[in-house]
Amino acid sequence: MRDAAPQTIFLKDYTPFGYIVQDVHLTFKLAPRATRVISRIRFAPNPGADNKTFFLHGEQLDLKWAKINGAQIKPAITPEGLSTDVPEGAFTFECEVEISPETNTALEGLYMSGGMYCTQCEAEGFRKITYYPDRPDVMSTFTVRVEGPHPVLLSNGNPATSGEHFAEWHDPWPKPAYLFALVAGDLIAHPDRFTTMSGKDVELNIYVRKGDEDKCAFGMEALKKSMVWDEKVYGREYDLDIFNIVAVDDFNMGAMENKGLNVFNSSCVLASPETSTDANFERIEAIIAHEYFHNWTGNRITCRDWFQLCLKEGLTVYRDSQFTSDMRSASVKRISDVIDLRGRQFAEDGGPLAHPVRPDRFVEINNFYTATVYEKGAEVIGMLKTLVGDDAYAKALDLYFERHDGDAATIEDWLQVFEDVTGRNLKRFKRWYTSAGTPQLSVKESFKNGRYKLTFRQETPPTPGQPQKKPRVIPIAVGLLDESGAEVLPTQILEMTKRQQSFKWEGLASKPVPSILRGFSAPVILKRYTDDDERAFLLAHDTDPFNRWEAGRELAKSTLLNMIEDGASPDTRYLDGMLAVLRDDALDPATRALMLGLPSQSELAQTLADKGVVPDPQAIYEAVQTLNLAMAQHMQDTLPRIYAQCQVEGPYSPDAEPAGKRELAIATLGLGSRLDGGKAAKDQFASADNMTLQISALAILLRQKVGDTELDQFYAQWKHDRLVMDKWFGLQVGAAVPEDAAYIAEKLTQHPDFDHKNPNRFRATLGALAAHHAGFHHISGRGYTLLADWLITLDPINPQTTARMCAAFQTWKRYDPKRQEMILAEVDRILAQPNLSRDTAEMLSRIRAA
Ligand code: BES
Ligand code: ZN
Repeated sequence: MRDAAPQTIFLKDYTPFGYIVQDVHLTFKLAPRATRVISRIRFAPNPGADNKTFFLHGEQLDLKWAKINGAQIKPAITPEGLSTDVPEGAFTFECEVEISPETNTALEGLYMSGGMYCTQCEAEGFRKITYYPDRPDVMSTFTVRVEGPHPVLLSNGNPATSGEHFAEWHDPWPKPAYLFALVAGDLIAHPDRFTTMSGKDVELNIYVRKGDEDKCAFGMEALKKSMVWDEKVYGREYDLDIFNIVAVDDFNMGAMENKGLNVFNSSCVLASPETSTDANFERIEAIIAHEYFHNWTGNRITCRDWFQLCLKEGLTVYRDSQFTSDMRSASVKRISDVIDLRGRQFAEDGGPLAHPVRPDRFVEINNFYTATVYEKGAEVIGMLKTLVGDDAYAKALDLYFERHDGDAATIEDWLQVFEDVTGRNLKRFKRWYTSAGTPQLSVKESFKNGRYKLTFRQETPPTPGQPQKKPRVIPIAVGLLDESGAEVLPTQILEMTKRQQSFKWEGLASKPVPSILRGFSAPVILKRYTDDDERAFLLAHDTDPFNRWEAGRELAKSTLLNMIEDGASPDTRYLDGMLAVLRDDALDPATRALMLGLPSQSELAQTLADKGVVPDPQAIYEAVQTLNLAMAQHMQDTLPRIYAQCQVEGPYSPDAEPAGKRELAIATLGLGSRLDGGKAAKDQFASADNMTLQISALAILLRQKVGDTELDQFYAQWKHDRLVMDKWFGLQVGAAVPEDAAYIAEKLTQHPDFDHKNPNRFRATLGALAAHHAGFHHISGRGYTLLADWLITLDPINPQTTARMCAAFQTWKRYDPKRQEMILAEVDRILAQPNLSRDTAEMLSRIRAA
């Protein structure tokens, strides 16, 4: 049952809960369709709260009995929870409920996956387990008893007593209910140990289903590296006797940081050279680090309410990106992060779903685990660090941990520690948290009598609910080069605080070439009407690796836009520049591979739309094909040489260096295949001894339409490995020509191995369609219809995954009237479904309201 008009929750309405929870005892008697949960919770009045209404969240629970201080009560029950009169002073609340994990397809609360029990409680899933004040500012210690026949019975904290068919766990650290976890099943441990900096011995385990034991080693190494890194860089050590990770196949997200018991989507922890790509390895390392780092930024210090989500997510994404920069290449990581930010966050910020890094309202919090909260939230922290400097950042973080350990904190608390450490006033800076939209930064330059002047102007377009925008504090990293390419001014941080602001340099011998927004020092759109000669110059000479890449990217965009809009031929400056990059042995292979990549077609569509031009997805697709072919022809003589140079000898290693070589090899193979019809790719497919080489060759062959045999071979080889099969599904859609993409996706949804209830398989297939720009937006409208059909099917089963995939429709306003009409017709068709989930209804009505 659901409310007819879902309620909007506002940040300004925050009030503390009337009671504190002193401790919680939970007993689980596991049964697939009739699990019993018995709770004993000690409450006391919260002296900091006026409102003493006693309401406990609870959804889809079958209440058997409830007691206060040992006496049976008859509480009032609604679909949202339970209320009752309570005594003055402290009291004990007890109850027993029955729940049905086996039929829980939403994968929120306690559910089953492949025969094992597991939980997902963030954000508001604990209320599907038992009655509780399910809000992050209510923190308590938990003691949990799990009863079941399974060999492995896990919960948070440290193990206490266990015996045949039961185990007890005690978590000494107060935590909100969203960090609760329970796992039970026939699992195998990959064990290890770690000694913390103060000499404490910690037991580590990665638990997996039988058959996956050989895919744990890499994740375990990543965990230990993360533990060392957090001690060394942030001075944070682990705080329990045991740290467990469990891999599950059915999971809505990537992974979850439950205290001492992280639960991972198996795709984000299991790895082997034969089944995982270099990109998978890198992602697994990052996500293990991310969830581990939450132990301090999220668990020890949590969020007061869900509006503060970026307090833990933005900071933890920032921390995991620092970790990856340290483990691998900092410039490669920065470039990849910016590609991702522009691809996802800029699209969100420029469309109907735009919201501040700290939103001030929501209907369904699950819809706010967004690129804005995560990625822009991390960018804001990066800017803060740039502004205050590394030392002050370190001091502010020490103060944050010291002052707020054990707290449920806010963005105000976070900014306060920076103000206290630096004496700065961050009131203006705070606008990054409260105001949505991506600022556009335009630049004008002038040079006279040795004086060089840059004038910046910032403008943020209106976003839903925020028509007027105040200026932000923008750190602009700038360097100046002379005409020989030598640096006359090393990187300097300009602090822009006004709508328009100028910066001057005196005594220059000649007009310099500016390198602006080095390292992408702020998440803004730089509007600089410079010519392609200057871009080619920066591509050749900029000392800042990010801006060198950026110059190449700008040149690529410029030539592509000329091709799309005016039918121009590929620009030789771009082709020459890329040939020089390809041959530049001083550049590491990974950077060269990144530079050879073209902007995504969706990014090109956005760029056109920003210029007031209606993008034609098919024309964009064709321009990209033409440019790739021209690059291949231009580089024809060099490609085989680089491909040969980039062959990696010896056993497979997922380290950055060999992975970078493979990446460049694959980039040259892809370009070369446009001339040799896939011959070299066939050889690579046949001889590949790792997934990176095997699947990249297959993707190239499919794109050249010569890969049918290899596709079948791949299926025969991997049909028993569900994670590789996800790749098999996604690949075919991704490599399709635009007119085939929806047909292929549709055919795949009829394949016996398609399982729409498994989020990984659903996303592999339909997510790949949504990500295929020209395929999804094909003028037939087939892509829109197919996605809508499946969203309608999935919504009653799994609202969270359905709602997230609705974002595919968020860019509708970019396109021509025909496409707009088709997209809106599908959006309306979904909205008209009876009993649509609150999640999906909110997403689509926000998209629709644009
Ligand atoms: N806390 C989240 C997981 C989560 C998200 C739970 C939404 C419930 C609702 C976790 O720390 C997280 O952020 N995971 C990311 C990966 C991470 C590397 C950014 C994810 O699952 O995608
Ligand atoms: Zn997180």
